[in-house]
Amino acid sequence: MATILIHHDAVSAASATAKRLLDLLVSKPDASLGLATGGTMEQVYAQLIERARGMNLSFAGVKSFNLDEYIGLNADHPQSYRTTMSKLLFDHIDIKPENTHLPRGDASDPAEEAKRYEAMIAELGGIDLQLLGIGLNGHIGFNEPSSSLGSRTRIKKLARSTMAANRRFFKPDETVPTHALTMGIATIMQARKIILLATGASKADAVAKALEGPVSTSCPASILQFHPDATVIVDEDAASKLELRDFYESIHPGGEEVYFVK
Ligand code: PGA
Repeated sequence: MATILIHHDAVSAASATAKRLLDLLVSKPDASLGLATGGTMEQVYAQLIERARGMNLSFAGVKSFNLDEYIGLNADHPQSYRTTMSKLLFDHIDIKPENTHLPRGDASDPAEEAKRYEAMIAELGGIDLQLLGIGLNGHIGFNEPSSSLGSRTRIKKLARSTMAANRRFFKPDETVPTHALTMGIATIMQARKIILLATGASKADAVAKALEGPVSTSCPASILQFHPDATVIVDEDAASKLELRDFYESIHPGGEEVYFVK
């Protein structure tokens, strides 16, 4: 079972997530970070930038691999995840642009691009810490329900609910892409450490299903129950449907990690 940390609010949950990223970078300045997009991550990246500045922390040795990218959008498209990541993070830190990796949404052969991306992650040594959000339907990356738990980076059709949720990032006259290239569930599970961050009441059902339901393709995030080093950071709203909430809070009051001292 993952470590479940319930924070009072979304700001505190994002702050705890940013702190874990910083702790890793302090101990391993050349870490490989698996990054995610989505509204939930905006606060994490804002805090990461601010705190890294305060600590004079360099990202010059860091490599990053994003989970996914829309098919059909070139890197410069305002809604591409490449542009989003530049705006939210890359433009504000000293990470080397050549060390920031996302699948190429405008590749002429997306299936080949998926294979290239998967192989590149392995060739560059894999991912030390993968950051994840969770979709309303329990997706991680763009692995929608029914995704194989053994899947690798590939083309995925987006669920209607995902397209509706992502509509808010596009202008009214723009079409929301229907397909994406996404790391697979097995790709994600190979990360040495995983942090899933979920905030807000709209995520409460997905969080409960992922953490307390059966491990099933109907909720891709439930696979984290099998990961040896997964931490799920939530705010009280996202935790509101957890049956064992009291128990999790008794182990980690206020979302703090408490260790036994012999
Ligand atoms: P959100 O997306 O942070 O915008 O809610 C999360 C996700 O779909 O993985």
